[in-house]
Amino acid sequence: MKIIILGAPGAGKGTVAKLLCGLDGSIQISTGDILRAAVRAGTELGKKAKGFMDRGDLVPDTLIMDIMEARLQEPDCEKGFILDGFPRTINQAEELKDLCKKLNIKLDFVVNLEVPRDVILDRLTTRRTCSNPECQEIYNIKSNPPTADGKCKKCGSAVIQRDDETEEAIVYRLETYNEKTAPLIGFYENEGLLKKFASISSKETVEEIKKSLKS
Ligand code: AP5
Repeated sequence: MKIIILGAPGAGKGTVAKLLCGLDGSIQISTGDILRAAVRAGTELGKKAKGFMDRGDLVPDTLIMDIMEARLQEPDCEKGFILDGFPRTINQAEELKDLCKKLNIKLDFVVNLEVPRDVILDRLTTRRTCSNPECQEIYNIKSNPPTADGKCKKCGSAVIQRDDETEEAIVYRLETYNEKTAPLIGFYENEGLLKKFASISSKETVEEIKKSLKS
């Protein structure tokens, strides 16, 4: 499959993308994960991105497009990919459209996860993430907790809260989403690619996406 997952912070993009990966060997490409790995590794990209991320702001489009132009040409993308957190601005979406033309990539569709704001705020303050960069399993202390002593059920590493999960940063991320990312819903509607899913249960969402891929 070749799909994009859109949704506000905490809508469940990462959770749904990880479930979809298991279906046909398609890979999850999360710009958030790529950036967090760069911050941890202290690379030039990480140094440039950290301040934006900690504030809850978007990283400049040019940095993201450089990452994605290279990433989409790696051999593991041939089987398929699930874009999680990209594109995030109209400019990124326009540039992705040109890139797909250039690389001869045809997207199946764009998934929009629709989740009410109060649910999102609750999910983000209760999310925990595996600290192992190779794993990054997503947990929720209410709906999907890690082990009782706070370890990842998959790899046993410590499960932590992300740096951008302060209340201040969460509120700012939601404002940034409304201003810069929500317009992508109209963009992909015009492109005839948008499919809307109420993200109540991630497993149900995945079942609906599977049906759409078949039809
Ligand atoms: P990124 O990592 O993409 O963060 P985000 O969009 O804010 O999304 P999240 O990862 O917070 O949430 P999610 O929708 O994946 O939800 P999840 O599945 O974890 O980006 C981080 C930062 O990087 C950005 O702020 C920006 O600075 C930068 N960045 C990244 N991409 C960029 C780009 N393209 N351009 C510019 N800057 C960029 O679920 C949330 C919680 O809810 C979890 O606890 C989960 O267990 C739980 N949950 C999920 N689904 C359900 C459900 N159905 N029922 C109950 N609980 C659920």
